[in-house]
Amino acid sequence: LLFPIVRNDSTDAAVKMLIQVKTVFTQQLPKMPRAYISRLVLDRQHVSLVCTFRGEVVGGITYRPVMSQRMAEIVFCAVSAKHQVQGYGTRIMNQIKEQCKRDNIEGMLTYADNHAVGYFRKQGFKKQVTMKRERWQGFLKDYEGATLMECLVDPTIDYLS
Ligand code: ACO
Repeated sequence: LLFPIVRNDSTDAAVKMLIQVKTVFTQQLPKMPRAYISRLVLDRQHVSLVCTFRGEVVGGITYRPVMSQRMAEIVFCAVSAKHQVQGYGTRIMNQIKEQCKRDNIEGMLTYADNHAVGYFRKQGFKKQVTMKRERWQGFLKDYEGATLMECLVDPTIDYLS
C-alpha cells in the first residue's frame, strides 16, 4: 500500500494519478458535478493524497492547504466501492494527519456529506469548530446539505503507530 502525495506539476505521472483518483471521486460522489471535481483535483492549489494498492488507485483525499492559516480544507475523500469498509479510509486519514504534521498544519476542516459524518467522527472530526472563524472563513468552499467538521492535528501523536 502506497500513499503518494500528488500535485499537478504537469508531469504525465502526476496527471495520470490525479485522473485515476478523480474517477474514484466521481463514482463515489455522484451528486457532485464531474467537471467541478476534475477542476479542483487538477487545480494547482489543491493536493491529493492517493492510496494505491499494486499500482491501482483505491482511494484518496484531495485537500487545499492554506499555509498562512496553518489550516487545510478536505475537499474530496473517497474509497472505491470494492475497497470500502476494509480500513483504507482510516489509513488514508492517518496518512494525511502525518502530512499535516510535516507541513505545520494545525487543523483540518471539511464539509462532510451527512452520510459520511459517522466516518469523519471515527477519524477524530468534531462538529464543534474550535479554530477562529477568521482562520477559515472565506477559505472554505461551502456545500449545501453538508456538515462542517474539524479535526485538530496533534504534533506529538504518531498517527501511524
Ligand atoms: N458512516 C458511519 N461509519 C462509517 C461510514 C459511514 N458512512 N463509512 C465507514 N464507516 C466506519 C467503518 O465502519 C469503520 O468503523 P470501525 O473502525 O469501527 O470499523 C470506520 O468508519 C472506518 O472505515 P474504513 O473501512 O476505514 O472506511 P472506508 O475505507 O470505507 O472509507 C469512506 C470511508 C471514505 C467514507 C468511503 O466509505 C467512501 O468512499 N464513501 C463514499 C464517498 C463519501 O461519502 N465520501 C465522503 C464525502 S464528504 C467529503 O468528501 C468531504
